[in-house]
Amino acid sequence: MASMTSSSAPLILLVLLLGSMMVASAANLNQDFDISWGDGRAKIINNGELLTLSLDKTSGSGFQSKNEYLIGKIDMQLKLVPGNSAGTVTAYYLSSKGSTWDEIDFEFLGNLSGDPYILHTNVFSQGKGNREQQFYLWFDPTADFHTYSILWNPQRIIYSVDGTPIREFKNSESIGVPFPKNQPMRIYSSLWNADDWATRGGLVKTDWSQAPFTASYRNFKADACTWSSGASSCSSTTPSSSSNSSSWLSQELDSASQRRLKWVQKNYMIYNYCSDTKRYDNYVFNVTGGGGGCDLVGTDTSTQKEYYLELYEARLVPKQKKRGGGIVLENVYL
Ligand SMILES: *[C@@H]1O[C@H](CO)[C@@H](O)[C@H](O)[C@H]1NC(C)=O
Ligand SMILES: *[C@@H]1O[C@H](CO)[C@@H](O)[C@H](O)[C@H]1NC(C)=O
Ligand SMILES: *[C@@H]1O[C@H](CO)[C@@H](O)[C@H](O)[C@H]1NC(C)=O
Repeated sequence: MASMTSSSAPLILLVLLLGSMMVASAANLNQDFDISWGDGRAKIINNGELLTLSLDKTSGSGFQSKNEYLIGKIDMQLKLVPGNSAGTVTAYYLSSKGSTWDEIDFEFLGNLSGDPYILHTNVFSQGKGNREQQFYLWFDPTADFHTYSILWNPQRIIYSVDGTPIREFKNSESIGVPFPKNQPMRIYSSLWNADDWATRGGLVKTDWSQAPFTASYRNFKADACTWSSGASSCSSTTPSSSSNSSSWLSQELDSASQRRLKWVQKNYMIYNYCSDTKRYDNYVFNVTGGGGGCDLVGTDTSTQKEYYLELYEARLVPKQKKRGGGIVLENVYL
C-alpha cells in the first residue's frame, strides 16, 4: 500500500498544474496517426478525413497514434466490417509499454450477416487484465459510423458509445486495486483474423471469399494531455490560463448517465467478470447479490474484520487457506 500512495504523487502534481494545454484535435488523421503495419492495407484518404483498415488472407493492418496521452477524453468514430465479418476482430485501444503496462480496450468481434457483433472491453493496470465486460450493441455498427469514447481521468475510466456510458471502471486504489494513471498510453487499432476464438468462441470461421474486410475511422477528437520527453502538455502552463475545456478532468456520471449505464448493463451486457462466480470457484468468498459492479465488501466471520475487494484482484483467499468461520460477503456494489 505504501508504494501505491507514493506512486500517486506525480498524478496529483499533474492535476494541480493542469492548465489549458490539452491537445484538441479533429482535423486531419495524418496529423495524429501513423499506419503501423499491413503493407498497404491501411490507408488515410480523403485529405485525412478517413482512415481504413483492411484484412485479407495474407495480412491484417493497423495504425497507432503519434502522441502518447496521459488522461483525457478521446473520441473516435468507427464503422465496422459489414456483411459476414465472422472471425474478424477490430481492436481499438490505449496501451502503455513494458511488462507492467496499462491498457484500456475496445474490441469488436465480428459475426455472420445479421448476427450481432460483440463489443468486448477490458482494463489492464500494471500488467493485470482479466476485467472483461462484453456487450451487444443497440444498433447495427456496420451500417454507419458511431462514436466510441474513452473518458480517462484520475478517478475513473468511462467507456461510452454515442454518448451512452456502457462501463465505468472506478479508481479503487484506496482499497488496493491499481488504477492506470501514471503510464502514458498510445492509441492503437488493428483489424486481424482471430477465427480461432472470436465468433461463437471459434465455431464460426472467417469466410475468405468475402475478403478484403474493411473497417473505417473518422472524426478523431482528443481533449487530452499528451506526454512527451517525460512531461505532460498539461503541466507546462500556469493555472491562471486554465479553460473550461478540462471538464473531463473531474467528469463523473450524473444520475441520468447512471440510469443509461444501468439500461445498457441490464439489456445489452452479455458477460461481466464481476459476476462470473464460476471463475472464482476455488475461493471461499460467498458472493451474494448481483449487479454490474465489482467492489465487494466482506466480513471475516472469525475476526469480524472487514474486507474490501474487487473480484479479480486475487485478494480472494484460496480454498485451502480458508480459516475457521470463513468470510461472508455482505454487499455487492451497484
Ligand atoms: C454471433 O451470433 C451468435 C448467434 O446469435 C451469438 O451467440 C454470438 O454472441 C454473436 N457474436 C459473436 C461475436 O460470436
Ligand atoms: C467557463 O465557465 C464559466 C462558469 O461556468 C462561464 O461563465 C464562462 O463563460 C466559461 N468560459 C468559456 C470560455 O466557456
Ligand atoms: C451465502 O450467503 C447467503 C446469504 O447470506 C446464504 O443464504 C447462503 O447460505 C450462503 N452460502 C454459503 C455456501 O455459505
